Amino acid sequence: MGERYDSTAAEHYAAYRPPLHPRILERLVGPSEEFASGLDVGCGTGISSVALARHCRAVTGIDPSASMLERAEPHPRVVYRSGTGAVPGALPGSPFDVVAFAGSLFYTKSAELRRGLLDLCREGAPWLVYDFEILLDPVLAALGAGVRSEASDYDHTVDLSDWEGFETVIRGRERIRLEVRSVEMVHLLLSDSNRHDALAERHGNTDLFGTLVKLVERDPGLRGLEAEIHFSRHRGPGGCA
Ligand SMILES: C[S@@+](CC[C@H](N)C(=O)[O-])C[C@H]1O[C@@H](n2cnc3c(N)ncnc32)[C@H](O)[C@@H]1O
Repeated sequence: MGERYDSTAAEHYAAYRPPLHPRILERLVGPSEEFASGLDVGCGTGISSVALARHCRAVTGIDPSASMLERAEPHPRVVYRSGTGAVPGALPGSPFDVVAFAGSLFYTKSAELRRGLLDLCREGAPWLVYDFEILLDPVLAALGAGVRSEASDYDHTVDLSDWEGFETVIRGRERIRLEVRSVEMVHLLLSDSNRHDALAERHGNTDLFGTLVKLVERDPGLRGLEAEIHFSRHRGPGGCA
């Protein structure tokens, strides 16, 4: 997140996203816990809404970005709406039994959001906050293409522990590893323009994808994807969660 996208990068972004959302939600939601209605704030292209739908009978995903919503993943139990949650107004599925922010709280957190969402939720509903950082620097270094991270004030650890009336029930940070296929790793590498440019500079632009797939294929160590995950679960005011 905080990456630079263009159309080539967007194609690779659409071609593969690692299945981190369900893995993180498993740390926040009990195995037998099921919610009637969930709200996914800042749903983007719906990856997080579909992941939340594993734990809910119905999910509403909201996002202010029309271009994100246009690409939103269809799912029989998910509806998407344009919105921020900070502007009062009914949403399908309200009152919600659970609220989730996947990589979106940093952008959305405000007093208006708190007020707007409390009106749309049941008392004591759990609020789930999570984010992740995919650690590709070692893979890039092994492929001879270092990319200097741009300075950013983005905070992956933002949560709701400082909101009055909210109680933190779970808070964690872990490094997890997924084994991925060579083509998946290369889609991921090329899904950001800075990484794409650095790899093209090192390996040339003629069949960059094919060249990288062969290189990753030769080294099983490059098919391990590491991510730093951050997650918290909060109990909203009133009731229990
Ligand atoms: C990094 S993306 C995460 C998308 C999705 N939740 C996921 O996990 O793939 C952050 C999303 O927050 C959305 N966003 C930005 N400001 C927002 C706001 N004020 N209210 C709701 N969503 C917002 C952006 O449009 C973007 O889709």
